[in-house]
Amino acid sequence: MKVITTPREMQALVITWKGEGLKVGLVPTMGWFHEGHLSLMRKAREVADRVVVSLFVNPMQFAPTEDLDNYPHDLERDRKLAEAEGVDVLYAPEPADMYPAEFKTSVHVSGLTTGLCGASRPGHFDGVTTVVAKLFNQTLPHIAVFGEKDFQQLAVIRQMVRDLDFPIEIIGHAIVREQSGLAMSSRNTYLKEDEMEAAHSLAKAIVQAQHLVGQNKNLSPDQIKEEVTGIILSYPQCTIDYVEILDRSSLQPCERISSESVLVLAVKINQRIRLIDNSTLVGN
Ligand code: PAJ
Repeated sequence: MKVITTPREMQALVITWKGEGLKVGLVPTMGWFHEGHLSLMRKAREVADRVVVSLFVNPMQFAPTEDLDNYPHDLERDRKLAEAEGVDVLYAPEPADMYPAEFKTSVHVSGLTTGLCGASRPGHFDGVTTVVAKLFNQTLPHIAVFGEKDFQQLAVIRQMVRDLDFPIEIIGHAIVREQSGLAMSSRNTYLKEDEMEAAHSLAKAIVQAQHLVGQNKNLSPDQIKEEVTGIILSYPQCTIDYVEILDRSSLQPCERISSESVLVLAVKINQRIRLIDNSTLVGN
């Protein structure tokens, strides 16, 4: 596996591959790989001839008050994990190459970015879409794989790809969970032992919501939300950022539970660690 750090070298290699008729897959990440990331790499390996994994902790998507400086980072650890998955290139550009002093552009997707994570993290999705657009132009993939864990992010990226005519197929990949049900996340490393149980409230609430819907499909979204909120707030370390039941494509609140409904959650543990999770409610 090759490690590439400059956009120019990255582009040149992909152009060579494309000349050989090879199909290129990209997995964008911010590193500190866990099984969730590795499952995206395996998916890319399945559908593409060459796999590029980008590793860039993108300052533009962090607010000044957020965890950019503490975000876990170990290139050598991640290099070994990616290599073991048969990744062809680990692309780890430098911040100064991604955002030189004269950088002036931002990609903004309207509407889909205002609610949910966009409401509590203003500017976050502009950072995501700008860096993903740059990564697409630097790695020129045929396919890019993203996790459904970041449900809103996936919807925003699909919209950007449609609106800006990127000739890239976006593949969404299912959430990978710990045996306990906790959705894997690089931020789980921040959890202290006594915060773990509170972190499990998200998955616990999802399972209970699915159970209730399984018993009675006529329950209203508000009734389910109340139940979910109750479970999460039974842990004193938890505060709720949002609990919503949305239509999976429009991201608008739904009036009735159906196979198109998704329960989305964002919860803060001890005001320090913000965790997100989501799930469909019918047909799992
Ligand atoms: P990061 O949080 O590192 O996640 C990289 C990819 O892994 C995203 O597509 C995310 O949805 C996926 N992922 C994370 N946890 C997962 C899990 N438990 N199961 C399945 N997939 C999971 O998301 C970002 O980085 C950044 O915003 C990025 C898109 C790279 C732009 O900077």
